[in-house]
Amino acid sequence: MIKVTKIAVLTSGGDSPGMNTALRAVVRTCAYNKIDCIGISRGYQGLINDNFKPLNTRSVRGIINRGGTFLFSARSNAFKTKEGRVRAYENLIKHKVDALIVIGGDGSFTGGLIFQNEFNFPVIGIPGTIDNDLYGTSHTLGYDTALNTVMEAIDKIRDTAISHDRLFFVEVMGRDAGHIALNSGIAVGAQEILIPEENVGIEELIDSLKKSKKAGKTSSIVVVAEGDRTGENVFELAKSVEIEFPNYEIRVSVLGHMQRGGSPSCFDRVLASRMGVKAVESLLKGDSGKMIGFENGNIKLTPLATAIKGKTKIDPELIKVSQIMNT
Ligand code: F6P
Repeated sequence: MIKVTKIAVLTSGGDSPGMNTALRAVVRTCAYNKIDCIGISRGYQGLINDNFKPLNTRSVRGIINRGGTFLFSARSNAFKTKEGRVRAYENLIKHKVDALIVIGGDGSFTGGLIFQNEFNFPVIGIPGTIDNDLYGTSHTLGYDTALNTVMEAIDKIRDTAISHDRLFFVEVMGRDAGHIALNSGIAVGAQEILIPEENVGIEELIDSLKKSKKAGKTSSIVVVAEGDRTGENVFELAKSVEIEFPNYEIRVSVLGHMQRGGSPSCFDRVLASRMGVKAVESLLKGDSGKMIGFENGNIKLTPLATAIKGKTKIDPELIKVSQIMNT
């Protein structure tokens, strides 16, 4: 087992609130254990371009509450090539780095796992993505903050929907996962929630809207996960529904990248701090090739290969709650 005396850390893929908090925890845990920490700018591309900078406890002051990532993030095609990964490895060796912490999503973990296997170089993953689409953790960093951002945005949309007797289709992020849509949809009292994991179908959607109209509802919200394929896309979906409801004013709102920003919630800050500490401690104990996860209140490790392959399942009890709530 090699003695870890210097750890590098990077953020990769779509940024998420909590990444900075996790970076702060990694740096401070390195200092606490009297080992060096190196920040890599712009993800794996920074590894290849040798964008290495020493970090100390003062480097991470004032960022605990900041969204985004002060190390910047990027997607790197070069790292998908062996040649790119060799250059990354050579730079890590040149800087005498013993292990790497990757804060990112499934794509970033895939690259980290390939890298560890190719060079026998210890890698630990901290799940930083708003999508919550990694197996082995009930919460990825940024997911809780994104839920609250979406809830507050849709509450505002509901004000104008009510004022104008309108039906709003609101598209939210999550890539191929419906966790943001399902949980925020329940939180805002959506009439229907369309997620890729459940193929509701346009007929059921129209039936539900007809029922709500019959019950006297003059406005409604339908939350659509961006990965849902009930319609070609949310605009096409709205057009198909418009045919059934010629007198219902319909509007579409795509929340977009605001869901990725904002100051991390208390939950995300505490989770990020716990995960950052655990990531460093795991490497110091010789553990690697794992993702730091959170389940039932406890921090736990899951092999990266498992975390990437699996998905956090949609809870059927939540589906039932959403169905009962829109009667
Ligand atoms: O993975 C996070 C995420 O925000 C997804 O929810 C979304 O589909 C994607 O990133 C958007 O990617 P980009 O920022 O490259 O447009």
